[in-house]
Order: sequence, then structure tokens, then C-alpha cells
Amino acid sequence: MFLETQDGRRILDAISSWWVNLHGHSHPAIANAIAEQSARLEHVLFAGFSHEPAEELASRLGKIVPLPLRHVFFSDDGSTAVEVALKLAVQFWRNSGRPEKHEIVALENGYHGDTVGAMSVSDDSPFTSAFASLRIPVLRAHAPRCHHCPQGSGGAAWHIECLKTLEKLFSERGSQIAAMIVEPLLQGAGGMIVHPEEFLAGVRRLTSQYDILLIADEVLTGFGRTGRMFACDRAEIVPDIMCVAKGITGGFLSLAATLTTDRVRETFSGSDATRTFFHGHSYTANPIACAAANANLQIFESEPVFERIAAIEKVHRARLPGFAGDSRVTDVRMIGTVAAIELNVPDAGYLSSLRARLYNFYLDRGVLLRPLGNVVYILPPYAITPDQVHFVYDAIAESMALLSQ
Ligand SMILES: Cc1ncc(COP(=O)(O)O)c(C=O)c1O
Repeated sequence: MFLETQDGRRILDAISSWWVNLHGHSHPAIANAIAEQSARLEHVLFAGFSHEPAEELASRLGKIVPLPLRHVFFSDDGSTAVEVALKLAVQFWRNSGRPEKHEIVALENGYHGDTVGAMSVSDDSPFTSAFASLRIPVLRAHAPRCHHCPQGSGGAAWHIECLKTLEKLFSERGSQIAAMIVEPLLQGAGGMIVHPEEFLAGVRRLTSQYDILLIADEVLTGFGRTGRMFACDRAEIVPDIMCVAKGITGGFLSLAATLTTDRVRETFSGSDATRTFFHGHSYTANPIACAAANANLQIFESEPVFERIAAIEKVHRARLPGFAGDSRVTDVRMIGTVAAIELNVPDAGYLSSLRARLYNFYLDRGVLLRPLGNVVYILPPYAITPDQVHFVYDAIAESMALLSQ
């Protein structure tokens, strides 16, 4: 759980090194798998060739993702998984003889990565403002922010209201829309915003009704983050395309996969070369990264990972109410292993001046927390002990004094 600084201090990694680490740093099973694979086959092009680690990984993924997502396209990181998803969606309609369906719908507050396509479907933010001229046009749909909602959090009508605007958009432009991309249930970089399961289920219902592909970007939420293997499982939905990355190798190496259904896959087969999905990267399905991913998924089978996840959730449930009543707190929220405390500051947002003070305060206390502006969140490796989660909460409780300064 710990990183060591040059001067020998130990820092508890409470954000999984940007949300990638699942089982703690340098888990020996993954480290050994990497060493063994490096000695056997370090890399081979993934065009016309395949190899055991990739075949095994495709088969392992097939057993844990929602059943219809049988086809796997490997790439390098979360952003490329999203690029692949967007390109697949647009070409799917072209291959289906409906090239006019090429528009993409994405949510307010969304974040999908920093490459140009992924940045385009992400909402306007300090991450994108310098690159407005590069971004492709996207239709932006309203996303729930229950804690700021005039209807009140959890009110009877909330998700219906949020879905109404989406239905209007679909009814007006559905014939031109190729796909809608969402971060299922948890918008991460946008401020750890938790969505009701009913909203995600409603998005699935409407996308199906208007024949629009649904892309679930599970780059953050995949592999147990939200308490189930995938966030889509919580809402009992199956997307047409799913992106996974980050935790796929347990936080060791960069790797991603975009998964899809028979329906999408079939349009890319046949003798017509123009139907081919022309997309690949030099290190696509790197065998060492695939071996790390296989070892990571094996840990889910050989260690009580979901018990650890449940233990983290239990501490979140016990500690968050203590912050909820504080007038310096605007909202507390959680889903699975992720908890967020939104602080009441005049300059709320990613560039809040409080952020740097909080970050340094936590590091001085021996905890790596990296607030998203005025939103402090905990997103720990599953290997964290309940006592260590309490230690993180204690540091956050202490840091509240900074708000009065
Ligand atoms: C939901 C989501 N999608 C995509 C990405 C991009 O992933 P990467 O940083 O691996 O390119 C991120 C990164 O934080 C993310 O949270």
C-alpha cells in the first residue's frame, strides 16, 4: 500500500496511482508473470499473429464481462480504448449502409481521456480548453448531479427529468446519431459524481429504442471499483461496446480492450476490404501486458478480492456520515470502493485554490490523495486494510481545519 520517498518516508497510496492499482504495489504474482513472459516472448506484431497471453486474456475477459460482449479489440490505454469505440461505432453504421448515422452523444461533466477523440467526447474543462479547435463536434446531453439538483437528491422524478432531455434529443436527431458514450454510474475526473442506476438503465432503454449504440467507458469503473465487476452489472445493462483499461493489469502496465457484440462485429467481416477496421498500434496486445492482466484476473479467483472491496465499502459507510453534517461540506457520496467529499468553497471546481493546500497537507500526513479541486476522494487499492482506510479518513477530518483558514 505504500510508496517510499527519497528521504525514506512512507506514503499510503489512497488513489491507486491514478486509479490503476488493484491489489497493492508490486504484487508478486503479477511481477512474476511479467518476468516469465518477458523471457518467453516480449512482443510480436498483432496483425496476422496472435499469442497465448492474448488468447487467454480474451477468454478470461469473455467470462467476466456481460455475456454478449464476446469480441475483444486490444489497445494501449483508456484513451485509445475510447478512440477505438468511437471509430467502431461510426464505421459500424457505415458498414451497415447508414453512413448518415455518425454523430456522437456524450454527457455533461464527462471525461474519457486526453487524445483528440476522447477529449472531444469529454466535457469542456481546464483539460480541454486550450484545444477547442481540435475537438470534433459532439452532442452534449444532460447528466444527473443529484446533489445540486433543484428537485432534491433521490426525489421521485429526478432521473425521469434527466432522461426527458435525452429522449427529446434522440427523437429529434436519432436518425443521425451513431452512439452515445457514458461513464457508467461514476463520472470520475468530472468530480466523482455518482449516478443513479435508474439513469443508466434509462439511457440503455432509450439508446435501444432509437437504435443508437451505447458505449460504456468502464476505464475507471471496471474490475470491481463500484462493488461489482463492472458498473454495468449494477444497473443490469449490457452496452453495445465497452472500454476497459486502468485496472486491467492490476496497475503494472498499460493495456486496454474495447469489447463488442456479434451484431457490431459481423458488419466488419466479409470479402470487401473497405469494411475492415483499420486501426492498430505497434504494441497492440503486448504479450507482457497481457500476461500481467491474466495474473491480475487470476488474483480475483485466488484471493478474496470482493471481500476486501466489501470491507472498504463498510468503512466508507461508517465514516462518510460524519462529514455529511458539516457545514463546510456540500455533499458526500460513494459507490463501491470510491468515496468523495465535496467541500464548500467560493471557487469550487478543478482549479480551486484549496486543492494544492489539501494535497500538500495529505502528503505531510503520509497519505497520497489528489483532490479534484474541492472534491476530496478516496479510491484505494483493494489491498488496503480497514484500519488504513480509517487512517485516510482521519487525515481528511484533520484537513477540514484548512477550510477555516
Ligand atoms: C472514464 C475514463 N475514460 C478514459 C480515461 C483515459 O484513460 P488513460 O489515462 O489510460 O488514457 C480515463 C482516465 O482517467 C477515465 O477515467
